[in-house]
Amino acid sequence: MALASDKQANEENELLLSLPKERGLGAGPYLHLFQDFWCPSFYFPGVNNFQKHFHAKDSDVFVASFPKSGTTWLKALTFVIVNHQRFSSFDHHPLLSSNPHELVSFPEFILSHDFDDQILSLSNMTEPRLLATHLPFPSLPKSIAKSNCKIIYICRNPFDTFVSAWEFFTKKSSVSSHALTFEEAFEKYCNGIMGFGPWWSHMLGYWNESITRPNKVLFLKYEDLKEDAVFHVKRMVEFLDIPITQGEETTAVIENIINLCRFEKMKDLEVNKSGEIDNIAEKKNFFRKGKIGDWINYFSPSMIEKLSKIIEEKLSGSGLSFKLHS
Ligand code: A3P
Repeated sequence: MALASDKQANEENELLLSLPKERGLGAGPYLHLFQDFWCPSFYFPGVNNFQKHFHAKDSDVFVASFPKSGTTWLKALTFVIVNHQRFSSFDHHPLLSSNPHELVSFPEFILSHDFDDQILSLSNMTEPRLLATHLPFPSLPKSIAKSNCKIIYICRNPFDTFVSAWEFFTKKSSVSSHALTFEEAFEKYCNGIMGFGPWWSHMLGYWNESITRPNKVLFLKYEDLKEDAVFHVKRMVEFLDIPITQGEETTAVIENIINLCRFEKMKDLEVNKSGEIDNIAEKKNFFRKGKIGDWINYFSPSMIEKLSKIIEEKLSGSGLSFKLHS
């Protein structure tokens, strides 16, 4: 086993060395262009193991996202919905004592270390298994696309996503992005270079799949969820086909779910104020401002013009558009 894993590690190293690499916002020192996306060096072994060894079950639920688009929020909401029968008391809910990233794992991350233990714990998870991924749709393990498992995807307007990523990845922690200035990081982002980017192909991959297979992929936008959470959480419940009411009024239950996962409430929980997630990021950094339109405080007029043009060009004809202000 040790020999086999040494062999795999060597092959991965060789592959990594052969790939184009860049600095950009993301976990680890470099991003590597792998299967048409910029894979953070930190995730590379886990991505390989996820693609090679993960077997989706029909009952699996995946939360998918481009980083800094509202993953933490969507993990929390989906966890509450999927586990509604198991944890129906919101006064003693696991979300009050654990960070959403501790409750919903990224296989591409956990499979980068302790492989045998992690693959076993994935296969022993209570069903339905709730997992998360930042991988672009075409790079997901084949069994995810083939099985009847469901994916809820969230994305966010590219302006706020960039600012959120800038603030997160340049915070003092081991995911920090090594001496890029705001302007340099922005140029890279405009060229698609950020962990799991380009952001446009990431969004469009899931967007197109949600159109052709609406029962497979539910496509959400951070701004929509902020504006009308009741409507969109109802869509999530219907999409997952999970009974969440036992005689109670559906809207009241939905409102309780939303309240439990509210930004201010989560940010204020002791469990989210200190400590780290898997030694790579401080929990408190996952809760910054939680607003639409904070980008206005960061961008120069020429940057606004440049990113607006890229959004128009890359998303034109797709039907996908974003609200930039609240
Ligand atoms: P800001 O940096 O703009 O504040 P991700 O979870 O994908 O890493 O995205 C992080 C962004 O989502 C951060 O945005 C963070 O503040 C925001 N966020 C985290 N929890 C949230 C919640 N419960 N409701 C709304 N936004 C939330």
